Amino acid sequence: MNALTYVHEAIKRHIGEGAVCIDATAGRGYDTAFLCEIAGKSGSVTAFDVQSEAIESTRALLSERGLSARLILSSHEHMEEYAEGESVDLIVFNLGYLPRGDHSVYTRFDSTKKAIEAGLGLLKSGGLMCVSIYYGGDSGYEEKEALLPWLKQLDDSRYQVLATFFYNWKKDPPIPVLIYKL
Ligand SMILES: C[S@@+](CC[C@H](N)C(=O)[O-])C[C@H]1O[C@@H](n2cnc3c(N)ncnc32)[C@H](O)[C@@H]1O
Repeated sequence: MNALTYVHEAIKRHIGEGAVCIDATAGRGYDTAFLCEIAGKSGSVTAFDVQSEAIESTRALLSERGLSARLILSSHEHMEEYAEGESVDLIVFNLGYLPRGDHSVYTRFDSTKKAIEAGLGLLKSGGLMCVSIYYGGDSGYEEKEALLPWLKQLDDSRYQVLATFFYNWKKDPPIPVLIYKL
């Protein structure tokens, strides 16, 4: 079990064919492809990234696997422009930088917070948001240090926030956070 398999298991339990999904950080496209496979032809996946290298990598992976998604070269904080309120079943964030890419471009607390706020408005009641916090190395600790206390104060009458710690891992283990909209 690692952060990725933990989150993927939660996603598989939560959505199926026909799901409306957003991948807030497309990167190399592995999560986008995973969501496309679950949502199937009757569902939809919209994926954001600020780097054209990430969008093109995602496009190539989807084409290789015969999948399709709406790919948006823009910051995820603008996701409200691409979906109706309360219309989305699942939103995934994988924070940090593009693997095998430019490590100086990584997610930042200010825009991540705006994107999470926007995403929570887009989620249906009963919807799930998965935020995997990758930190340390070139992206540092700032985002994680600001995000965890902010997530902790989300209204508990509207959201259930579950953070998981790989507690005895030695070096900066990613922190998967599941946010269920009640
Ligand atoms: C850890 S990677 C995502 C990995 C991806 N889920 C995958 O399966 O390959 C993080 C990505 O977030 C992107 N990113 C950084 N800031 C962003 C922002 N404000 N909006 C959207 N994407 C952003 C980076 O360009 C990078 O590709």
